[in-house]
Amino acid sequence: MPIIFHDKSKTFHLKNEYVSYIIHIMENGQLENLYYGKSVHDHGEFDRLHEECLRSQSSICVPDPSLLSMHYARQEYPVYGTGDFRSPVCTIRQADGSRIVDFRYVSHTVSGGKPSLPGLPSTYVEADDEAQTLVIRLHDDLMGTDLYLYYSIYRDYPVITRHAQFVHAGEEGIILERAMSASVEFLDMDYDFLQLSGAWARERYPKRRRLEMGLQGIQGLAGTAAGAEQNPFAALLRPDATEESGEVYGFSLVYSGNFLANVEVSTFDMTRLSIGINPENFAWKLEKGESFTTPEVVMVYSDSGLGGMSRTYHRLYRSRLVRGMWRDKARPILLNNWEGTYFDFNEEIILKMAKEAKEVGVELFVLDDGWFGKRNDDRRGLGDWFCNLEKIPSGIDGLSRKVEAIGLKFGLWVELEMINEDSDLYREHPDWLIEAPGRYRCHARHQYVLDYTRKEVVDYIYGMMSELLGKSKISYIKWDMNRYMTEPFSAALPADRQGEVMHRYILGVYSLYERLTSEYPGILFESCASGGARFDPGMLYYAPQTWCSDDSDANERLKIQYGTSIVYPLSSIGSHVSAVPNHQLMRRTPLHTRAAVAYFGTFGYELVLGKLKDYELAEVKRQIDFMKEHRALIQTDGDFYRISSPFEHNETGWITVSQDRKQALALYAQTLNKVNASWIRFKLKGLDPDTRYRVRYEVVEEPREYSVFGFGPTEGGAEKREFIAYGDELMNIGIVVDRIDFYRLGGDFAAFVYEIMA
Ligand code: DGJ
Repeated sequence: MPIIFHDKSKTFHLKNEYVSYIIHIMENGQLENLYYGKSVHDHGEFDRLHEECLRSQSSICVPDPSLLSMHYARQEYPVYGTGDFRSPVCTIRQADGSRIVDFRYVSHTVSGGKPSLPGLPSTYVEADDEAQTLVIRLHDDLMGTDLYLYYSIYRDYPVITRHAQFVHAGEEGIILERAMSASVEFLDMDYDFLQLSGAWARERYPKRRRLEMGLQGIQGLAGTAAGAEQNPFAALLRPDATEESGEVYGFSLVYSGNFLANVEVSTFDMTRLSIGINPENFAWKLEKGESFTTPEVVMVYSDSGLGGMSRTYHRLYRSRLVRGMWRDKARPILLNNWEGTYFDFNEEIILKMAKEAKEVGVELFVLDDGWFGKRNDDRRGLGDWFCNLEKIPSGIDGLSRKVEAIGLKFGLWVELEMINEDSDLYREHPDWLIEAPGRYRCHARHQYVLDYTRKEVVDYIYGMMSELLGKSKISYIKWDMNRYMTEPFSAALPADRQGEVMHRYILGVYSLYERLTSEYPGILFESCASGGARFDPGMLYYAPQTWCSDDSDANERLKIQYGTSIVYPLSSIGSHVSAVPNHQLMRRTPLHTRAAVAYFGTFGYELVLGKLKDYELAEVKRQIDFMKEHRALIQTDGDFYRISSPFEHNETGWITVSQDRKQALALYAQTLNKVNASWIRFKLKGLDPDTRYRVRYEVVEEPREYSVFGFGPTEGGAEKREFIAYGDELMNIGIVVDRIDFYRLGGDFAAFVYEIMA
């Protein structure tokens, strides 16, 4: 039984083979955390871990002679105003203006399985014995409000999920000013804080720093997305934790809007990490009979370093967050026309691109931005989700059928949450966008945010999309979103509910996703937000894959995909081969390297195949065959190990290993070539030490008219190499990477992909 309650000591023990989490009902009826970490034996006397002492200026919260004070208690759901002077997770304004709350334990239930959250994405189970859920009911008498704290523990993962729900039954309304998902307290401050930070085209760079006394944390305030700047994820690592060893605690918020991950270290060296909806610009009114549910936080404990944490998130998110028929399937190899044509295309060009794609083995053609309304540039058209017949005379229904007749599936780009002033939708409904009365209305990329807090707006967009999807042959949708929210105000909400706009907006987006994905279960959705500004678990619940970044340069992608893999599985990472010179950086990288990096994701192309030379087309064909052979390992089965970080080294290394350890695929890539440098041993991870593996790789040369290092001119081609080695040799001695080969591969930005088979 993973969840045990000891009545005498008033302790709960959530426990599986990997992790223990112990909660205590304190003398004042509030909850404290006694332990979170590696699994320990159960017994009935964990209350001995509860400590009290008189600290200077402590406010004692129960009658004498007890010394219980919130000043130092390690609370499960801390509030401000009763002796705790640290950051709370919950603040509630009451009718008389008071913000003092007192939630006390009333009862609890333990049940098999894991409930879903109303209107919100969450991890799930497929059978009740996969997890157990503890729901603790607390009550504030004066307000007449119940607080339910939910804890689910998975049987097979070191994972505990948490969220909270407020149910208000008092006569007077209340305002939730802060209602975060969870708070976890640690006894000491000997931790590093890890975050994934970035910006457009350089998303999710890992940043690690020591905790210090006081406040530190990250937040998203973009409104329409968690944002490219900070991912809704934070981890605490013991300072000695590495990729494969040491303790790590991960916190991943299943939410796509404004968030806060806040760490406060007290002067008693205690660490409190709180995570949830950002209280900035948030105020949620609860009238009698109304309830509010916070998003879910997925907490992963690892005693095998950051890599162990990542592999848990990958397995869980791949199989118990992503839903639908694409969850367990290898993903189609696609060609997207965006970087190939931008807005400059017509039906003839698209059909030509599709035919070229079919010839090399591509399976899905994706028509990106520019097919609808009067969208010949980015100044107009958003909102008009009907085909521009001047560009595509057959319409989307006709074009999609023509593409299918070529032998490809057809996919389409949309940006359903946005509107341009120059659109029929705006001319019809100028009041449907988010703006504040009397204030300047900021635009971004000439577009505005539709008011998804309004059901009629969501219904209207749903109607347009449903009609389009119903009459066309569409197998894939790229759902883009290209601006953050400003002037958050809804004309449809009263003054005392304006603080609800940003969360209601996200709920509106989720509701549209839910409707479209359940009505069209066969369509593969890919989320996107100016590249990777919406790479979050909330989106993955609806869309199994996410366009990782608008930066498609292979060398930059090493960093972006390495950082993204800290939390997100390879099956979710949209990664394509694009043209050179690269459109974001003007950099030239070998075609082989571009594919080598893109293999470790969903794989596709973002260029005009017809512009490639014959030897390049032959190489593209080989790449597509290769990906078809290996994509199940990469996307549905493999465990991912990071070996060498591009943030620390000139070389990047990683490997994905099948669950039975009979197959693996590894990447070794260098940034700049080095002359006369040290020997290289590329030490693999995750293999079975006693298995004899066959290792295959290719040295792919592009045509060369000159001689380097004794290698004369060549017409290009791939030299296949192979050797046999035991897993222990590959992991402890490593693969010999011959520096001479770098010259043949093109010098800078060279890469090897190793196929490893038992
Ligand atoms: C931003 C996306 O990230 C790109 O891939 C592309 O779809 C453009 N939007 C189209 O406007």
